[in-house]
Amino acid sequence: MALTHHPTPTPSPTSAATPPPNPQSGPPHTPLPGPLPLLAAALLTAALITTAALAGGPLRAWLDAMAGVVALVALSGSVLLGLTTVFRDLLAPHHRRYAQHLHRAAGLLGIGFLVLHITVKIAGHRIGPGDALLTRGLPTTAADFWLALGTLACYLFLLAAATGVWRGAFATRRWIRPFRLLHGASYAGWAAAVVHGLTAGRTPAPWVVASYAVCLAAAVAAQVQRRRRASTQRRTQRQSPGRVRK
Ligand code: HEM
Repeated sequence: MALTHHPTPTPSPTSAATPPPNPQSGPPHTPLPGPLPLLAAALLTAALITTAALAGGPLRAWLDAMAGVVALVALSGSVLLGLTTVFRDLLAPHHRRYAQHLHRAAGLLGIGFLVLHITVKIAGHRIGPGDALLTRGLPTTAADFWLALGTLACYLFLLAAATGVWRGAFATRRWIRPFRLLHGASYAGWAAAVVHGLTAGRTPAPWVVASYAVCLAAAVAAQVQRRRRASTQRRTQRQSPGRVRK
């Protein structure tokens, strides 16, 4: 997609005269979803579960082999796009907005295919509902452990998705840390999902393993860079408290 750059004014470190918006009192920047979107989500989930449970023939075979793969690729993309949006100095505000929309769209696609993946595996008797939801106790064999990582990943992704949808409820300075912690559960979920995806099913091709390893390494490097930059900013702020943080 070709994106044109429109210069958008960004707060400069010297524009100390303009007071920053008060995040304690401002309106939530992502409104809470109303009853209609929630009803639509519930209906869509029911339709996906029914489709996967009743599908037969080539559709069932395709979902059995590919739903997990599509979920893993889409959720990997979502995690990486979400991480991209935190680099304010690398992306113009409108590019960050595009990345934010793509992050949510990929997350939604991934969760949808995850629902299909889980339903098809249960409907095909590859795993029982109790084991799939980890309500029958902890795994005892290595094979069960690789599968249980999928369940753990699923719970963590659902937590990340729920906090993403209810982002508006966390849009105050007081709640931003809990939000980052809960939404950041997606990193642990992603790592667990990658290990599950590479170990629980067919033997993956070497290039598949290499691609996920590169993505995980890129995410770790980006996080390290982010922490470093934040601590440099905090140090600068302590030394000259009048400067506005970018
Ligand atoms: C409750 C959660 C989950 C359950 C019950 C589950 C179940 C399974 C099962 C039974 C397999 C083995 C496939 C086979 O040999 O037939 C498998 C493989 C796989 N899963 Fe999951 N899974 C879950 C979560 C996830 C998540 C969160 C992802 C990624 C986002 C994922 C992606 C994959 C992939 C890529 C494979 C390998 C491809 C395949 O053989 O289907 N799964 N899963």
